[in-house]
This record gives sequence, structure tokens and C-alpha cells, in this order.
Amino acid sequence: MRILLTGADGQLGRLIQLAVSDSDDLTCTTLTGSPSHPDCLALDLQQTGSITALLNRIQPELIINAAAYTAVDRAESEPAMAHAINADAVACLAQWCAEQNARLIHYSTDYVFDGKSSRAYLETDLPAPGSVYGHSKLAAEQRIETSGCRALIFRTAWVYANVGQNFLNTMLRLAAERPEISVVDDQFGLPTWAGSLATLSLAASRKWLQTEPDSAARIYHLSARGEPISWHRFAQTIFEIAASSNLLKQTPIVHSISTAEYPTAAARPAQSALVNDRFELEFDMIVPHWRDQLSQCLSQRSTLVDPLTY
Ligand SMILES: NC(=O)c1ccc[n+]([C@@H]2O[C@H](COP(=O)([O-])OP(=O)(O)OC[C@H]3O[C@@H](n4cnc5c(N)ncnc54)[C@H](OP(=O)(O)O)[C@@H]3O)[C@@H](O)[C@H]2O)c1
Repeated sequence: MRILLTGADGQLGRLIQLAVSDSDDLTCTTLTGSPSHPDCLALDLQQTGSITALLNRIQPELIINAAAYTAVDRAESEPAMAHAINADAVACLAQWCAEQNARLIHYSTDYVFDGKSSRAYLETDLPAPGSVYGHSKLAAEQRIETSGCRALIFRTAWVYANVGQNFLNTMLRLAAERPEISVVDDQFGLPTWAGSLATLSLAASRKWLQTEPDSAARIYHLSARGEPISWHRFAQTIFEIAASSNLLKQTPIVHSISTAEYPTAAARPAQSALVNDRFELEFDMIVPHWRDQLSQCLSQRSTLVDPLTY
């Protein structure tokens, strides 16, 4: 199958490259391409003309959109750019898929919700984003739906990997620098390893590709199993598993602080766990527990296989 992957150098994009089958004809794209990987093409999602030109040239049967404007706080002061990359570019991909009878895999976020629910979110819950980023990602979902293209939209949350800017890497860096750190203890969610997300979403996509879906776009929540945890608990567990795997020189003391003590430009949902039942039921797959996902991610830390080296 001819597949075009956007955001191939992002957290998720790197792990999708590893999860794609060898028999697939994969074209990777990043914002600027890669001098060390001439096969990796440059595609700036802000340039909708370039998107259409590239799609017409490659003629993918499946587009996997792992690219996004993910700077949640910066988006508050760059709403036009966030919207262009997260919504307008996605609308362009979806429109092309609808016209060419291709299919689209897209990733969305827990930030489409306001985080005020007392329970984990279902796909049927009403979105109410509280940030520019959340609004731009919700707009993408809606524009995929109105395009009429056949698409799977996986809403995920709290994504981390061994490569990239994320909570896991920040915690391990801080542990090497400081004996004590403070972490927010009143925001709850389910941390998702990009490796699990890549593997599960591609396995589900393979099943979906073998069917002729009656509805155009389907939304699935896809994060991790287990009781929602706070960032504080996640930090403690990172240090516990990293220490037992000899990945830490010292284990810092983790102090608990509130969201009010750690102000950010964009509002964070206080409770943003996602229920994965629809995904598990319809694709007959079990989503691993957040702790198992973290253990598996850390177990690969010393033997990193990074498909794109920049
Ligand atoms: N990270 C999370 O916690 C989280 C949570 C929920 C949902 N998600 C969603 O999951 C998906 C994957 O996220 P991720 O964590 O893998 O994000 P990531 O690591 O930030 O990767 C995003 C990729 O998009 C690329 N990109 C940004 N602007 C672009 C543009 N104009 N043209 C082309 N590429 C561009 C980035 O390139 P540069 O690095 O060169 O800018 C980067 O490679 C996204 O849809 C995101 O919204 C993420």
C-alpha cells in the first residue's frame, strides 16, 4: 500500500515508521525534509498548495497525519499558525482523500474537552475546548467529518517517547540536575507511550482498511488502561522504574504542587482521561495499562532505534 506519513520526525511519527509494514511503500515527510535521508521529503503543512501538489505526485492510498502544531502554550499567542497547521492543512488532506478515494489516519487530543468531567471521557461526550490548541484540533475533527473522506481519528493524551520534548524526558533531565522537583498533583489523565499508540493505531487501521466502512469518519479514544493518575504520580513512577532499570544516578524527591502554583498560558484540562472501550471492542484489541506502556518505553531507552537521524 502506498502510504504518506506527515510529521515523520515527531514523537509519534518516528514510532509509526517502525510500525509500518516492510511491504508498504512509505513516503515520509517532515517540515524541512532531511539531508541525511533524501527519501524523506519536505512538506510544510502551512502551504496548502504544496500539500496538494505532493499528494497528486505521490498518489497515496493512505495518509497518516502525525504532524501537528503541538506547542500548546505558544498557540495562545499564535492562533493563526495553530489553526493553519492543525485545521486548514488537515481539511486539505481530508478533501484530497475524499476526492481520490484514499483513506486518512489522523490523531486528535484530550484537549478537545474542558476537563471538568468527574469521569473519564467517552467519544459521545460533548467537546468544549479551553485552549487555542484544543479549538484547532476540534476544528480538524469537524473538517474531516464534513469532507466525507473515510478516516479514523484517534484521540489520545499525555503522549511521551524516548525521543522528543515530553514529560518523561523532562523528568529524567531534571532528575540528573536537581535533588528535589515539584510536580502538579491536581491534573489527572492516562499517559500514553507513542510506541503503543503507533502499534495499536496501525493494527486497527489494517483491520479497517480491509473493510468498506459505512460511515465516513470514526472517532476513537486511544490512550492507556488504568485509573487516571496525576502528573505527580506519573513522575514518581518514572523515577521508580528508571531507578530499577539503572537509568538514574539519583532519585529526586518529588513535591506535590497545584495547577495554580504552576501557571501556564494555555488552560490544562483538570481531568482528561479517555475511555478506550470503543477502540477495544470494535478492533478486538486490549490497550496496555499506562504502567506497562511506561516500562516498555523505558526498557527500550538504552537501545534506541531511531529511524530518522538528524
Ligand atoms: N504530545 C502529546 O501529549 C499529545 C497529546 C494528545 C494528542 N497529541 C496529538 O498526537 C499527534 C502526534 O503528536 P506528537 O506528540 O508526536 O507531536 P510532536 O512530537 O510535536 O510532532 C509533531 C510533528 O509535526 C511537525 N510539524 C509542525 N508544524 C509543521 C508544519 N508546518 N509542517 C509539517 N510538519 C509540521 C513537527 O515538526 P517540527 O518538530 O520540525 O516542528 C513535528 O515533527 C498530534 O496530532 C498531536 O496533536 C499529542
